[in-house]
Amino acid sequence: MIQVNSKNEEATLEKSQNRKIDLCALIKKLEPMMERERFLHSLGAYHTMLLLAERFGLDSQTAAVAGLLHDCARIAAQEDSERILDGGAVPISAEDMPFPKIWHARLGAAMARSVFGIVDESIAEAIRIHPTGAPDMSPLAIALFIADYIEPTRSFEKVADFRKLAFADPQNAFRAILKNKTEHIRKKRKTLHPDALRAMEFYLT
Ligand SMILES: [Fe+2]
Ligand SMILES: [Fe+2]
Repeated sequence: MIQVNSKNEEATLEKSQNRKIDLCALIKKLEPMMERERFLHSLGAYHTMLLLAERFGLDSQTAAVAGLLHDCARIAAQEDSERILDGGAVPISAEDMPFPKIWHARLGAAMARSVFGIVDESIAEAIRIHPTGAPDMSPLAIALFIADYIEPTRSFEKVADFRKLAFADPQNAFRAILKNKTEHIRKKRKTLHPDALRAMEFYLT
């Protein structure tokens, strides 16, 4: 069962903020929580974030943790995530309500802290906005947005082109991915989340 930490537990977590994170322990904890495919995708994002960290001048541990945990709320035991949402631990805003596909990002940002003990707010924010993007994103959030799209288990047409661009010109790759993702949603005649619209306005106009 997944637990959301109490205030006392949070204080203990704050003290451990600067400690080296045991990545193997995080991987071992994450694996049994997820479906196999989703776990492999998370490992792919972890690997890609390590590669992108250098291009973006990011701390490699921070980048790796964001990649590994970005989908941590897409857990096999769906009732656990529903319980946290129902319990109001992670309130879903009126704006998010019509977009259940992005709820895992909001919940995942909270779970990085409550389940995995990660107290770095930059990681939580990158996880929170990873499906849609947002205006004025941090380098970590931009790297995660790219890594989620190009990690090695992704196999859509032209993924190789996006991978090449990501390492040659990461900022341009980010804009190309944002454009591609939003066009894909529009082609399916689905509504874009307001964060995606705001990201498009900020980065593509
Ligand atoms: Fe996701
Ligand atoms: Fe993902």
